[in-house]
Amino acid sequence: MNGPKERIEFLRREIERHDKLYFNDDSPEISDASFDLLVRELEDLQAAHPEFKSSSSPTDEVAPPPGGRDLQAVVHQTPMLSLDKALTKEEISAFEERLKRFLGPSEPILYHTMPKFDGLAIELVYQDRVLVLASTRGDGRTGENITDNAKTIASIPSKLSDDAPAQRLHIRGEAYMEKDEFLRLNEEREAQGRSVFANPRNAAAGSLRQLDVNITKKRNLNFFAYHLMEPQLADSRTYHELIKSIDRWGLPTEKSTASQGGVGLEQVMSIFEKLQQDRDQLPYEVDGLVITVDELSLWERLGTTSRAPRYAVAAKFKPRATVTRIKSIEVQVGRTGALTPVAIMEPALVGGVTVTQATLHNEEELKRKDVRPGDYVKLQRAGDVIPEVVEVLFDKRPPGLAPFVFPANCPVCGAPSERRAGEVVARCPNRSCPAQIEARLIHFAHKNALDIEGLGQKLAALLLSEELVKQPSDLFKLKLSDLKTLPRFGEKSAQNLLQAIDKARTKSLWRFINALSIRHVGERSSQILAAHFGSLKALSSAAKDQLLALNDIGPEVAQSIIDFFQSPLNQSFISDLTSEQLGVAPTTESVSSSSAISGKRFVLTGTLSTMTRAEAKARIASLGGRVLSAVSKETDYVVAGEAGGSKLAKAAELKIPVIDEKAFLELLTF
Ligand code: IVH
Repeated sequence: MNGPKERIEFLRREIERHDKLYFNDDSPEISDASFDLLVRELEDLQAAHPEFKSSSSPTDEVAPPPGGRDLQAVVHQTPMLSLDKALTKEEISAFEERLKRFLGPSEPILYHTMPKFDGLAIELVYQDRVLVLASTRGDGRTGENITDNAKTIASIPSKLSDDAPAQRLHIRGEAYMEKDEFLRLNEEREAQGRSVFANPRNAAAGSLRQLDVNITKKRNLNFFAYHLMEPQLADSRTYHELIKSIDRWGLPTEKSTASQGGVGLEQVMSIFEKLQQDRDQLPYEVDGLVITVDELSLWERLGTTSRAPRYAVAAKFKPRATVTRIKSIEVQVGRTGALTPVAIMEPALVGGVTVTQATLHNEEELKRKDVRPGDYVKLQRAGDVIPEVVEVLFDKRPPGLAPFVFPANCPVCGAPSERRAGEVVARCPNRSCPAQIEARLIHFAHKNALDIEGLGQKLAALLLSEELVKQPSDLFKLKLSDLKTLPRFGEKSAQNLLQAIDKARTKSLWRFINALSIRHVGERSSQILAAHFGSLKALSSAAKDQLLALNDIGPEVAQSIIDFFQSPLNQSFISDLTSEQLGVAPTTESVSSSSAISGKRFVLTGTLSTMTRAEAKARIASLGGRVLSAVSKETDYVVAGEAGGSKLAKAAELKIPVIDEKAFLELLTF
């Protein structure tokens, strides 16, 4: 039986994986609603077991870095965060409860509401009222430069009106595609025999991140502004006024009845209900209601976590559902051998998209739902993500349907599958299984790994079947003459591919680590390992203790790394890769953090006059410091408010610096 610790670790891994699938691969496996449930379960477990919470749980992280195509990277001046979610009305009330606890007793809180648009967040920078930079959100810290593309969007002014301030303004908002335009575009693509977009959001993202702006221009994108990062320049007391100022300056803002300021919780609830009911009447997709504390002075007090602001919440709508029939269940083999059951269904329209496949995740999930070929199932999509089989409609089950028997052997290579204790996933243990090799090759070239442009599923399969490549390191041995023999592969595409492969030789170390397909090691762990070990060589000879000493590397991950590097197959793969002949030389990037608070340990005592204790803790944590409950030799500062207690005596005894509220406030802004 698994305990909470194992479950927490499992959830953290899953969330990280799904985050990556969603943000970086644009290919989510589960619906937003199911993802939210995972996050929620993790948050609850962590709250109940703070002893198991790690300093880098995905519940307080924004998503990992993007691979970055050829658009230039833009580092955001202030990270573009996500929003906490509320999945039910009770959770909207809980948001208010949290605010009240944090702020202490105060006047009734008034809110602003605005639909949550299902497009992509972008940032526009205006200087002297002229648009000088536009970027995508990316991973929150670094996005892509889309200035030329943004200029083709009719609703984004290249110049603001005269009453806008001339200072540098960072305006955030959502780029989106209206539903009609999305349908038109897909019809056009279908007629041309091209692949269609799954939903308006993907269409908007794909259209905006074009290197050729003429394509963006033809796509008729739209924009709604929802935030100014310098609210003081708008001279507003509330978010509502702020939005009105932005609108006056010439930036479009949303004006349906769901956008309102100065409303109490009860009204928020009815706005939410009404929008949920009327969402299909709006010309654009919305998947929830963003509820924000209206008073801007409270924003400062509430601050943000590393993941999201405390003063806002995204209340999500119930997902749309439909019924369809399962034709068959296929088992697919992933790069680490994971056997994933996939339901092949009669085509069904859910929220405007035709769906024919849905993952059933793993054997356990399949058994739990008892999905059988021939069953009618409820299919659901939230926020237009890839659909999910919610449940079997048992009353519609035709008599005599046999249960699906999960194969005991890998469907591709026939090796008996394995399932480790405590894991839900059955795996093909044969690293030489052709399906695994292909999946690993695709991953190796993926944009979050070595980012070899042009090397996708089709080409990977071709290189393997033509035996030009047997394992990823063979990519670095490819010659122009090899590639030119491939069907439909001209000189130009061959050269492009070789160039992309050459660029991969010097990608950063974490990308190499991620590219190796070590079980349980995703992007985040790869970054941690790269930062700590600095080279593949050092990592490959790391002892388990060294790995375990790292924050965030648990026993399971550590063991998996050890196992990986102990395998002779992998050893020869790595020495081959880094040999002089292949010339692979990963680069290391350093990560720095500096503030007077960062890395310091604080103990709080007494009452502060300008903030509650929760607030003080949050501000310290947001600057990278830690708050401990007792004074010890390890303490860097004791912050003394009114009527501090025995902690002061202890601090004096251990000669720990004691600072008063004024000094503390200075430290916070240092
Ligand atoms: S944020 C501080 N408002 O949600 C609160 N975000 O922002 C200011 N999103 O991926 C308002 N619609 O793309 C805000 N009306 C809206 C939004 C919205 C969609 C998305 C945005 C980003 C995420 C977090």
